[in-house]
Amino acid sequence: MLLWSLLSTLVWGPGSVLILVLLLRLCVRLWHKSHLWDLQHCSTDLTGKTAVVTGANSGIGKVVAQELARRGAHVILACRSFKRGKQALAEIQAALRCNHLLLGEVDLSSMASIRGFARWLLQEYPEIHLLVNNAAVCGFPTTLTPEGLDLTFATNYIGPFLLTNLLKGALQRAGSARVVNVSSFQQTRGYIDEGHLTGAGGPLTFNQNYNCSKLLLTSFTGELARRLQGTGVTVNSVDPGVVYTEIMKHFSWPYRFLFWLVSFFIKDPKQGAVPVLYLSLAKELDGISGKYFSSSCVISPPSKAAQDPQVAQSLWNASVQLTNLDKMD
Ligand SMILES: NC(=O)c1ccc[n+]([C@@H]2O[C@H](COP(=O)([O-])OP(=O)(O)OC[C@H]3O[C@@H](n4cnc5c(N)ncnc54)[C@H](OP(=O)(O)O)[C@@H]3O)[C@@H](O)[C@H]2O)c1
Repeated sequence: MLLWSLLSTLVWGPGSVLILVLLLRLCVRLWHKSHLWDLQHCSTDLTGKTAVVTGANSGIGKVVAQELARRGAHVILACRSFKRGKQALAEIQAALRCNHLLLGEVDLSSMASIRGFARWLLQEYPEIHLLVNNAAVCGFPTTLTPEGLDLTFATNYIGPFLLTNLLKGALQRAGSARVVNVSSFQQTRGYIDEGHLTGAGGPLTFNQNYNCSKLLLTSFTGELARRLQGTGVTVNSVDPGVVYTEIMKHFSWPYRFLFWLVSFFIKDPKQGAVPVLYLSLAKELDGISGKYFSSSCVISPPSKAAQDPQVAQSLWNASVQLTNLDKMD
């Protein structure tokens, strides 16, 4: 009797909330599973290939790096922090029992750091088959780097722009190569203003700098694809969806708490990595370039601004000037 009343109190009291949450969590997991590309059925083997993944020490990037290494690729984990990178490297090596991974240090908000990293990388690996531009930050107000760029735009857009351009020769030498730009559904909430790159430009509402930086990355994807036509290098961008990772770590605690609350109902990093891995591995994407993929791995039109070739060309020219790409490289 006592046991029964205890059980019913649990089930109809706080227990019912817990059961409901767990049931919802299960439904969400099953839904994601049925809507995601089937990674296990992809037979792509990467033995002998070289892949570079930026921001590979946590979240989506870490899962992507591990999966690429599991398929035999030499993976360079391009990380900002040597300590966090080393820890991720050790974890992946222990999980896979392999040693064809390497740690490279690069701060994508610093053009000098990117140049140093690219020099080292090109010496070690003259051919690169896959570059995953995954690293990003959000949650920062307008903040200038010592090089005079806005921190968010430097990390999320100028960094990938410069790194990809510096590695272009190695990608072309590989014969067939892919560049995967990790964008976001938030790109639709941004607008293009080149002034933002240097901390000027039009007004930005809360976190809109992140949205705008992802829009620039998506626009860059189209322009780079046009410029790389016929070279064997393809470039596409993808939205991983809403994923519970460390991406909110620079927000204040109420936002982080909310993110934790919804974490039960959104993708985990393994699920979030699937669209990125789809662009990196799927054989049916051979030759497909300049596209934006939704988190369900479907080609979708990005924001109108990202589809405008004139806007993209103007952004390209401004980025070349800011990075001194035409003078130094
Ligand atoms: N999570 C989502 O809901 C979501 C949604 C849409 C798009 N995305 C995109 O998915 C990608 C992966 O993010 P995530 O969710 O996996 O977040 P995450 O766990 O925070 O991973 C971001 C990675 O970027 C690295 N990074 C940040 N600034 C860097 C810099 N200056 N130089 C080098 N590396 C730097 C971080 O390194 P540290 O550890 O050193 O900070 C970390 O390894 C990002 O492009 C993000 O915009 C995520």
